[in-house]
Amino acid sequence: NDTLVTKQQTLPIPPLLEDKNPAPNKAEFEITARDGTMEFFEGIITNTRGYNGNFLGPVIRVRTGEEVSVKVTNELDESTTLHWHGLEVDGENDGGPHNEIKPGETWNPMFTINQPAATLWYHPHQMHKTGKQVYEGMAGLFYIEDEVSDSLKIPKEYGVNDVPLIIQDRRFDGDGQLDYELGMKDSIVGFEGHTILVNGAVNPFVEAPQGMMRLRILNGSNGRIYNLKFSNGQEFYQIASDGGFLEKPVRMDSLTVGSGERAEILVDFSKVAMGETVELQDQGISFMSFVVNQASDKVYSIPEKLTTIEKIDERKATTKREFNFQGTGSSVSINGVQMDMDRIDEEVNLGSTEIWEVGNFTGQTHPFHAHGVQFQILDRNGNPPPDNEAGWKDTFLVKPGENVRVIATFKHEGIFMYHCHILEHEDAGMMGQFLVE
Ligand code: C2O
Ligand code: CU
Ligand code: CU
Repeated sequence: NDTLVTKQQTLPIPPLLEDKNPAPNKAEFEITARDGTMEFFEGIITNTRGYNGNFLGPVIRVRTGEEVSVKVTNELDESTTLHWHGLEVDGENDGGPHNEIKPGETWNPMFTINQPAATLWYHPHQMHKTGKQVYEGMAGLFYIEDEVSDSLKIPKEYGVNDVPLIIQDRRFDGDGQLDYELGMKDSIVGFEGHTILVNGAVNPFVEAPQGMMRLRILNGSNGRIYNLKFSNGQEFYQIASDGGFLEKPVRMDSLTVGSGERAEILVDFSKVAMGETVELQDQGISFMSFVVNQASDKVYSIPEKLTTIEKIDERKATTKREFNFQGTGSSVSINGVQMDMDRIDEEVNLGSTEIWEVGNFTGQTHPFHAHGVQFQILDRNGNPPPDNEAGWKDTFLVKPGENVRVIATFKHEGIFMYHCHILEHEDAGMMGQFLVE
């Protein structure tokens, strides 16, 4: 839209949410879903929604082993839920569509963190409204730290050299308002916007050290898949996938992230001349820039090893299940059925290990996601997954005609969702429920 003038701005860094419980090993947080306004463009006020603020939400940072309580208050004029994407907790605390928070109400999930350091996120999961509410700005990051993340010699200074990047695409109407009118194409392939926001800013820049930077990337878009590269063509290393660190850094020059997926990367700007700018691009289009203008006070090297991931033995699996993406537009389904709140599609024994085989009988790529569990990818069309998918995954892309086998141990009880993470597909019913007991 040419009437809207992009503001020159630095990358917003979401605040770290204050832990209200002084006791060690315990944490208490307060989150309020509310309406807000933003100035994405010069002099234009855009109506938005966010958590504790105008757009997106604070970063919740916890530690493995910590007992966490969160008070989630809904100040919106409609129901919402708050789901912890990637967190291994019981169904009751998962924040899926059954955990509805009515306007004016407070929901108080409690859980103990029992998974390794990872970059997770939270977002609403209200039936048929997830796409709209996330689009309006409701999403935030959830960091888990542990002894491994403490001991690794990688950048850790929040917002300085350890920087979150929440990448989202949006469409603005002539008045600069968020446009979520779904056209024919949007309801078929998922929403795609013309403007990319990073942490809620259009084309922001960030001052970068002439050295190593750690970027925690979340594709928080409703449907878009990004293929990220740096404008100078430089290589970088992926160090973590959805559920935590990879065993070893994986060298790459482009990164594909589907909606809902996360990737942590280390990028070394030490060869970039002082004062130069490096842009981050999606299919060749720049959407943010790094201005290398600070001497790096610490010299980092790429760690040889990050963590140890115990491979789940395939022979431990007691059940195999198939999930097939089918249909298009309003008829999208998994295994031929659409989401029904009153129907349990799959029953899983608590503590059991299962192999899930996800197929795609449609003409487009879909990200498969399940709640309350982290998977290991066994194979894609019979071949071992690429190195950057050899760690913990809760969301993974499935291409047309592809068959992805994953394995997981189901350690938490309750009702959970599995679905396509293109939110328009999820809202249209490309979702099912599994009960663990
Ligand atoms: Cu990111 Cu069911 O969600
Ligand atoms: Cu989820
Ligand atoms: Cu889909």
